[in-house]
Amino acid sequence: MNDDEVLRLLKERSPGFVSGEAISRHLQLTRTAVWKRVKILRGLGYVIEALPRLGYRLTQSPDLLLPSEIIPLLRTKWMGKKIHYFNTIDSTNSTAYQLALKGAKEGEVVIAESQEKGRGRLGRQWVSPPFLNLYLSVILRPKIPPHQATLITLMAAVATADAIKKYTRLTPSIKWPNDLLLRKRKVAGLLNEIHSETDRIHFVILGMGINLNMDEEGFPKEIRARATSLKRETGRPVSRKAFVSLLLEELERWYGIFLRDGGSPLLKAWKARAQIEGKRVRVRSFGEVLTGRAVDVDSDGALILMMGDGKRKRVVAGDIEYRR
Ligand code: BTN
Repeated sequence: MNDDEVLRLLKERSPGFVSGEAISRHLQLTRTAVWKRVKILRGLGYVIEALPRLGYRLTQSPDLLLPSEIIPLLRTKWMGKKIHYFNTIDSTNSTAYQLALKGAKEGEVVIAESQEKGRGRLGRQWVSPPFLNLYLSVILRPKIPPHQATLITLMAAVATADAIKKYTRLTPSIKWPNDLLLRKRKVAGLLNEIHSETDRIHFVILGMGINLNMDEEGFPKEIRARATSLKRETGRPVSRKAFVSLLLEELERWYGIFLRDGGSPLLKAWKARAQIEGKRVRVRSFGEVLTGRAVDVDSDGALILMMGDGKRKRVVAGDIEYRR
């Protein structure tokens, strides 16, 4: 974290110089330790001039997700004010879970440049190469019963859809329960994990994987035709730090709406972005394959299907495919 502190001081003064002595005094580091941090930052792609008597000056920054890159851009009140940053990690969700068990507060965020064991839903893997996309997990502590946890998932899907729309002006659609699609290809996925007792949630980990700058070849062959990124859809590279700060703002906004007004405005927003009603779908749920017509999503976020025999079926988890 010391590298990030050095960076914060350089950024505060940029485009001016900050003396090595001032940095070492501020951070209680030796001059040699300061020099070491500067070398680490250079290794990450920061261009830092060093001149005798003047000190250090930051002249160019790469698109990294270090807290000192994101926090100055953040316009939230509380979401993301504390960011745990990792160059590489097994999974941001696993780390966030451990931090939450140790008492990390609502709104703390774990971000990694890459994940070695990025996890998707239903035991799948989430491809997580470095410096291209967004892998983050947010810790929330909503005071709701566990059966409403799906609403938090829907909230995250709506917030992500709105962040994508604000950044790109493209309108993603939501595929139940929480895939985000552009031109029918998946651009983001959410994996939410809860820790609870029978009638109370202790915390929710909101895990979000968003493909920002991935090129087509970056996706494994098996999913290439079904996956996309914002760069691929807009033809322009995405500033990851600008996107993440927008995403955290949208999350704070929608979570606030949920806490204040309950599930109904959220469900309405989700339905408007998903447009699932009336669609013929095939659902895989707990080893069973169901086909039917989607009629609704209920107040707990479960999918209501009208089966061929005219009976309604409530599906709480699974994967859907649209049919013609
Ligand atoms: C899905 O299967 O659609 C959900 C993918 C979720 C991936 C994200 S990346 C950040 C967080 N950490 C993980 O290990 N998974 C989630």
